[in-house]
Amino acid sequence: MSTPRDTVTDSAAEQAEVLASHAQYLIATAARAPSVHNSQPWRFRVGSQAIELWCDPRRKVRADPVGREMLVSCGAALFGLRLAVRSLGYQPVVDLLPDRSQLRLMARVSVGAPAPLNGLEREMLTAVPHRHTHRGPFTPGPLPVGLLAGLQNDALAEGATLALVGDGLGYARLARIAAAAARRGDLDPRARAEIRRWTRSAASAARDGVPAAALAVSMPAQLRPGRPGRLPQRDFDLGRGIARLPAGGPPPAATAVLLTFGDRRADWLRAGQALQRLLLHAAGKWVFASLYTQPLENAVTRALIREQLALPGNPQMVLQLGLADSAASTARRPPDELAN
Ligand SMILES: Cc1cc2nc3c(=O)[nH]c(=O)nc-3n(C[C@H](O)[C@H](O)[C@H](O)COP(=O)(O)O)c2cc1C
Repeated sequence: MSTPRDTVTDSAAEQAEVLASHAQYLIATAARAPSVHNSQPWRFRVGSQAIELWCDPRRKVRADPVGREMLVSCGAALFGLRLAVRSLGYQPVVDLLPDRSQLRLMARVSVGAPAPLNGLEREMLTAVPHRHTHRGPFTPGPLPVGLLAGLQNDALAEGATLALVGDGLGYARLARIAAAAARRGDLDPRARAEIRRWTRSAASAARDGVPAAALAVSMPAQLRPGRPGRLPQRDFDLGRGIARLPAGGPPPAATAVLLTFGDRRADWLRAGQALQRLLLHAAGKWVFASLYTQPLENAVTRALIREQLALPGNPQMVLQLGLADSAASTARRPPDELAN
């Protein structure tokens, strides 16, 4: 029989073995996360006791000077990393922002006690390859019964809130604010230069940035009174004619804002984990989301959204959800490029 000391040694050895032999899988699963402009602002360091997630500020977008969107993106990758550890049959143990002297170190994830994957986790894992940001038309029809409540539970479980935006006044207010932000953003030369930097034509072999195949022809906000529609998407095309997806189609089935109580680095990482958790849950039911952060990149507009919609927290992401039967996923950089 093993002594407690042997048990510790065995489990430390087991941890090291799990991390070493599955490093590529862990990184690749985490890296399927959404990130602003598919910038993939993350790096991973695999040690014998933990895998570390680092942000990569060289990949921070200019519209995000404080790094909020970079950390939301890293939070989403962290959820993927946790799910990947779960899929190997272990509980992940997460130390968030573990070292104050290392501001780029987002989390240290180690391998905890063995525990089998549950049904919902299995469904989320299956959805990792086909989850995508949906910018083309949705398929008409309501969301599966109970899904929105399930997504709200996902957000709560990660320390965030998913506030549903009502079809009437709430949507009209949000659409008006988002349309004004889109007009300003799409005309700003610096913002346009950044979009050019992060979009890829159909001929491009790049493994980052938003590819033409994932872009919809830009359309003005749908502001028909009393009828919810599609919020204005960021103009990624900029008149270049590279977008491959049609615009329009049936309206999304739901609009929501992801909130956190606080608005600091740990909150942004929580928002990202909540985002990837609920996106994978939804994708497991073939429900996908359009994501909108253009209206949140300006502090005044962000505060206006909070105030006009009477939201009980800080907006971190605006989402529209709907059914879709297409699932074109975008490229990612290979794990070797992401490991330190
Ligand atoms: C913090 C954050 C901000 C984003 N902002 C937008 C946005 O304003 N407009 C948009 O169409 N997509 C947005 N996205 C989605 C990304 O463009 C998308 O995740 C990335 O291109 C990778 O594609 P995928 O989600 O299909 O895997 C955002 C994603 C994150 C995590």
